[in-house]
Amino acid sequence: MSATIEFIIDGKEITGQPGQTILEAAQQAGVYIPRLCYKKGLAPHGSCRVCTVLVNGRPQSACTQPIAPGIVVENNTEKLTALRRNLIEMLFVEGNHFCMFCEKSGNCELQALAYRFGITAPQHPYLFPKRDLDASHPDIFIDRNRCILCGRCVRASRDLDGKNVFQFVGRGPGKRIAVNAKAAL
Ligand code: FES
Repeated sequence: MSATIEFIIDGKEITGQPGQTILEAAQQAGVYIPRLCYKKGLAPHGSCRVCTVLVNGRPQSACTQPIAPGIVVENNTEKLTALRRNLIEMLFVEGNHFCMFCEKSGNCELQALAYRFGITAPQHPYLFPKRDLDASHPDIFIDRNRCILCGRCVRASRDLDGKNVFQFVGRGPGKRIAVNAKAAL
């Protein structure tokens, strides 16, 4: 078996290692693919779709799709930029993100992507959803207004510390993060 895998991104030859995803191999080769729910060190979740690329003409999430010899990946195209921009805009309008008043402003990946994609005013109407704050646990406070359901907290508490502190509950528009742990004594 070959120790490396050769494939193409936007016409450029890339060499990756077996087991790498498209996003990982691209990053190693200095090719940036936008991403949001991906976090190095955590199992990929594939939920935000911001990393969508075309693989041999078919849409795939780059953070979950393994590389394969000879695949042709399109990443930096007008169509994909428009798709990603639309996804990011929808995250803004379906939550309650008030960057000006947020303590994470300037250190926020969602905000950084909005700048990268030149989003100043989303083209979709704001939904201003009513979302609960969850202070039911004595040690954890969840502000669901800013949660984009990336699942990083779920994966980190499941895979890194094995405590399963967070879980998804509900479905569709009611899907949310909840605490799945007893209070520390
Ligand atoms: Fe790949 Fe979110 S970064 S789906």
